[in-house]
Amino acid sequence: MTSRVPVCALLFVIVAVTAGCSGAVEGWLRRRTYPPSFHYVSEAQLKSSMWLLGHQSLELRRLMLLAAGPEQYPRSQIVLLLADMAQTVRQLHPEASNHPGLAQGLEALAADLEAARKAVEHEPPSYYLAGSASGACLYCHGS
Ligand code: HEC
Repeated sequence: MTSRVPVCALLFVIVAVTAGCSGAVEGWLRRRTYPPSFHYVSEAQLKSSMWLLGHQSLELRRLMLLAAGPEQYPRSQIVLLLADMAQTVRQLHPEASNHPGLAQGLEALAADLEAARKAVEHEPPSYYLAGSASGACLYCHGS
């Protein structure tokens, strides 16, 4: 039952995500540091939501990698996961933040995740947006 290829692929993804984030996060903060009192979204809350999002994106990829192709994707699990991810973002209440860059980026991320979920729920389902959902992380974690 253990096959080497998906495990290696998953490890690669974990390493890529982890390595990609740490440097990008520092840069992001350096570019947009506000005094802590100006954050409605607390840093601790943001970080723990981000880690949750990281785990959820890995889980999403894992589900899609384990299936041989779209016809085998675990559709309802993917729908639930995308809904959970949007919920994670919405729970940060970015609209209440006076940190405009963060508010806009989180709003865009939530909208992308919701669009991806709707596409999977659609008849026939489309998995294209679900497959590229982690691209939305690049609103803030890019270059
Ligand atoms: C709206 C901007 C934005 C988007 C979009 C975004 N992030 Fe983040 N992320 C941040 C910021 C800001 C931090 C830095 C938090 C801190 O260290 O204070 C962060 C930090 C992180 C961290 C490190 C948390 C820590 O403890 O330092 C991880 C992991 C992470 N993000 C994953 C993701 C993933 C996965 C996605 C996409 C599903 C994503 N992020 C999308 C803004 C964003």
